[in-house]
Amino acid sequence: MSATGSPSGGQTTATYDSAFLKACRREPVPHTPVWFMRQAGRSLPEYRKVREGVPMLESCTRPELVTEITLQPVRRHNVDAAIYYSDIVVPLKAIGLDLDIKPGVGPVVAEPIRTRAGLARLRDLTPEDVSYVTEAIGMLTAELGSTPLIGFAGAPFTLASYLVEGGPSRTYENAKAMMYGDPELWADLLDRLADITAAFLKVQIEAGASAVQLFDSWAGALAPLDYRRSVMAASAKVFDAVAGYGVPRIHFGVGTGELLGLMGEAGADVVGVDWRVPLDEAARRVGPGKALQGNIDPTLLFTDPATVETHADEVLASAAALDGHIFNLGHGVMPNTDPDALTRLVDYVHTKTLR
Ligand code: CP3
Repeated sequence: MSATGSPSGGQTTATYDSAFLKACRREPVPHTPVWFMRQAGRSLPEYRKVREGVPMLESCTRPELVTEITLQPVRRHNVDAAIYYSDIVVPLKAIGLDLDIKPGVGPVVAEPIRTRAGLARLRDLTPEDVSYVTEAIGMLTAELGSTPLIGFAGAPFTLASYLVEGGPSRTYENAKAMMYGDPELWADLLDRLADITAAFLKVQIEAGASAVQLFDSWAGALAPLDYRRSVMAASAKVFDAVAGYGVPRIHFGVGTGELLGLMGEAGADVVGVDWRVPLDEAARRVGPGKALQGNIDPTLLFTDPATVETHADEVLASAAALDGHIFNLGHGVMPNTDPDALTRLVDYVHTKTLR
């Protein structure tokens, strides 16, 4: 991130001075900023209502609906950032791949990519392929005012895991078999995905996103050596491609305790940490010069307020010595979460950290 000291990328003067972007830049904040991965979505009754009868991927192509769904958690919870309502497979659908999101399952790809001929089906993404994103972000930033909008994309490894498996997997056996057995095809696949991902993030920043998050949700399946050898270059290519915009780049994965140093090295300004590693230990692994985001266990929201507060205190205590902390869950909001528990948690962290 360039230290320009002034708004860049999709930022305005109002969003530049927000607690969220200050924390990303590791500047002093009026209070610890809070947002939640998957804050827009099924935990909210107002989301379920507007989504009635509209398939998931179709909902992502309707700017009015995207705007409404993105704003819902901001109105309700008083979070410090909005995350653009979309999905990691949207850019893949936009370049013509036959895929869908099955309710209760996740992304399903009609013809998995396992050969060089399959790879040839991945063409470049142009802004015209996702004109609805540009339109929605224009509407959103007008409504959001001083609340920053986070754009996002899936990282090459996590996208490849769906493309090669054909759907969600617990073992990633086909994807890893390609990674180990045909490293050239694997490298070319990840490189293609890096270009598509970078193009998708650029569209979001140019339309008005103030920060971006790269979700490498499933990278925790990899040993550090394999991550470094077979995955890191592609994610680094994405971060490099958007570095010039000067907006914070957040890098997140689940079960990535052993990879935190490498994920920072890949080029992130902020490293997301799941609930398995306390933030003070995560800071040692990531090293200086980067903010951290996290990391309360999302299942805690199924307990009573006092228990949530005790754990929130532990997260804040482990972040006390950091110079940049964005409070979040260690992974996304689970669909059955009581939204009031989220509202209470935002309020608790804000009040507790008021400076
Ligand atoms: O965070 C937000 O509020 C923005 C919205 C968002 C969605 N997907 C909307 C969505 C974000 C950031 C994502 C990212 C995403 N999608 C990831 C990375 C984040 C993570 O959780 O690790 C991954 C792995 C996916 C793939 C995906 N899409 C899965 C596993 C699922 C769930 C399938 C299910 O039904 O259980 C989806 C569908 C999806 N994406 C939903 C939403 C709101 C639910 C579908 C619906 O509401 O009908």
